[in-house]
Amino acid sequence: MTEHNAEGKSTKLWGGRFASDMADIALDYSESTVADSEMIAEDIWGSQAHAIMLTACGIISEDDLRPILAGLRKTETEFEAGQFTLKRELEDVHMNVEAYLRADSGPEFAGKLHTGRSRNDQVVTDARMHLRTRLLGVQAVLTDLQRALLAQAEGHERTVMPGYTHTQHAQPISLAFWLTTYVSMFTRDQRRLANAYEIVNQNPLGAAALAGTSFPTDRELSARLLGFDGCHEHALDVISSRDWAVEALFALTMLMCNLSRLAEEFVLFSTYEYRMIEIDDAYSSGSSIMPQKKNPCIAELSRGNTGAVYGRLMELLTLLKALPSGYNRDFQQDKPPLWHALRLVEQTIVAMTAMVETVKFNTEHMREVVGRNFATATELANYLVADRGLAFRTCHELVGQLVATLIAEGKTLDDHEDVQRILAAHGQDLTLDEIAGVCDPEACLARQRSLGSTGPDSVLQMSRRFTEMVSANASAVEQRMEHLQQAHEKTRHIVDTVIAGGSLSDCNLQV
Ligand code: ARG
Repeated sequence: MTEHNAEGKSTKLWGGRFASDMADIALDYSESTVADSEMIAEDIWGSQAHAIMLTACGIISEDDLRPILAGLRKTETEFEAGQFTLKRELEDVHMNVEAYLRADSGPEFAGKLHTGRSRNDQVVTDARMHLRTRLLGVQAVLTDLQRALLAQAEGHERTVMPGYTHTQHAQPISLAFWLTTYVSMFTRDQRRLANAYEIVNQNPLGAAALAGTSFPTDRELSARLLGFDGCHEHALDVISSRDWAVEALFALTMLMCNLSRLAEEFVLFSTYEYRMIEIDDAYSSGSSIMPQKKNPCIAELSRGNTGAVYGRLMELLTLLKALPSGYNRDFQQDKPPLWHALRLVEQTIVAMTAMVETVKFNTEHMREVVGRNFATATELANYLVADRGLAFRTCHELVGQLVATLIAEGKTLDDHEDVQRILAAHGQDLTLDEIAGVCDPEACLARQRSLGSTGPDSVLQMSRRFTEMVSANASAVEQRMEHLQQAHEKTRHIVDTVIAGGSLSDCNLQV
């Protein structure tokens, strides 16, 4: 169905040159109100800042500004009360807000708001503003997960478990060492998220359609009012680029990859074969047919959702490939992958944190299996090198033969007298104390002392540093949140002053 108004013209705000409205099919295919619903608060804030800037620069009068700000304030209040929802026939969030303003404040005022801006710079402004807040949100929940891992690690610096290479027992490590691996990984994710935030938080507003504008605008002012760290200057680049979105989505993707690895270890370590951890009932589910089952479904879904996030990154990269400069409507499809990935990553972190907080460790079983499978063989070879001055290769060969003999006899490195006998047959006499001091997993663990090793002192030091880093990072995130809040409050204060009849010249426009 094509609509006409009385004069046989389009009813759209952009409809001047159109003889008819968009067909329903075309509107359905092109409207973006679902993804745009995430950016309503940002669109209103962005419009307030733009209007204030226009008046501060003498582009529209204070008499024009007042009804614009009053209308925008009403939109904001309605939105906050959950009463402002987007109408699909108005295409997007920008047209919805403008239409509300026309109805409320009158077309002559609403129409002036769009001076010197375009939906092209508006949409990037809204998206960057929404994305930056969500990135801080991800950083905050990731902090909780890091803290949960550190809390579980505490006191387990001497609790031994097998460390793996090729998923085979390799050397003893401590439970605290295993848990803090993920704290360490996530510090890089925090850094990637913070870097992405810096790239994202640059002001696009004022680039207008693609070429800037002939109006004497002050883009630094709108940047300040909107909490941006600076202006993304080059207008055509502002409109043409979405690499900031890719940057953020990659940071989320890499984080999801790391989460999936923690999830995988939870799945693996909770099996009967490993029996090293017990996931809490609250984060497991049962089988509809097998009464005995307890399935690690939350961990499995964390692993599984990783595919969707990877897919979203590929979707965005492919969307951007070979696009010509300037605005392309293709860009509209940048938001669904971002919002979807953000939701999945946030939910995954929250669920994984709860699982980490409630998991129980079967430390006796860990001790038992680490003693049974020759995990201290490397340390025995090291001991012979250090104590006897032999070449490492010679000791490797010797301990290899010892292991082969022990296996043939059905013994392990826990059978110290057998170890002593076999080594003596190879010309190496060791006391039982010497053997215990090397072959016992706890003793072996305590001997590790290189920077970053699994040795208890090393793990304690690293945990302390991680705790400090996590706190410093959490404060940086809080500072950014506060900065955004202050900018928003500043804008609101100016809006309220002007609505109440005050003059813009009485307001401090420096944030
Ligand atoms: N919905 C559009 C987007 O997300 C907003 C910009 C539309 N601009 C335009 N010239 N049609 O990209």
